[in-house]
Amino acid sequence: MMDSMIAKVLVSAEEIDELTTRIAAKIDEDYSGRGDKRLVLLGILKGSVVFLGDLMRKLKTPHEIEFMKVSSYGAGTKSTGELKIHLDVTRSDLGDCDIIIVEDIIDSGRTLSHLVRYLKERGAVSVRTCTCLDKPSRREVDFSADYVGREIPDEFVVGYGLDYDEKYRMLPYVGVLAPEAYTGSAE
Ligand code: IMP
Ligand code: MG
Repeated sequence: MMDSMIAKVLVSAEEIDELTTRIAAKIDEDYSGRGDKRLVLLGILKGSVVFLGDLMRKLKTPHEIEFMKVSSYGAGTKSTGELKIHLDVTRSDLGDCDIIIVEDIIDSGRTLSHLVRYLKERGAVSVRTCTCLDKPSRREVDFSADYVGREIPDEFVVGYGLDYDEKYRMLPYVGVLAPEAYTGSAE
């Protein structure tokens, strides 16, 4: 049973519902009356997909979606600080787009700080960042997101899109893995 591997629930489904409602309302407020520009939610695969889906259904502002797949993470649970682009945005009209990057969690801050710079270089009108979870105590570069669902302590979490070894993404809450979950899947 998946849930038996969860030592504690850090962010409940109810709290996720509240934080997504709050963020969507703030984005609606910030992006109203912008004329012809397109609003693009750019989901970072794979961890952001559940959060992105919730935001899409709660936003009243018309928007489009795009995805990028990047990694700044090596094997295991420590960040390597390297950003690799595995899947890029191919559209050529970024000069007409306001972009909100949607991420599952900010740890070192390297992924998002690199991505903001990259998308501005590609000519986006504006680039903001939105994260469901934030671990400010783990920062290695000076970075803060424009929209933050919830700050959490320095613990490795899974669920609501976040994985450990591709597992646990489907859990409807965010939880801390029990120590047993780390044994048995080592190479
Ligand atoms: P950063 O570049 O160090 O900020 O890395 C952020 C990325 O690290 C996220 O998109 C996640 O993929 C991954 N990550 C960081 N902390 C966790 C965690 O607690 N659980 C699952 N993935 C995490
Ligand atoms: Mg990720």
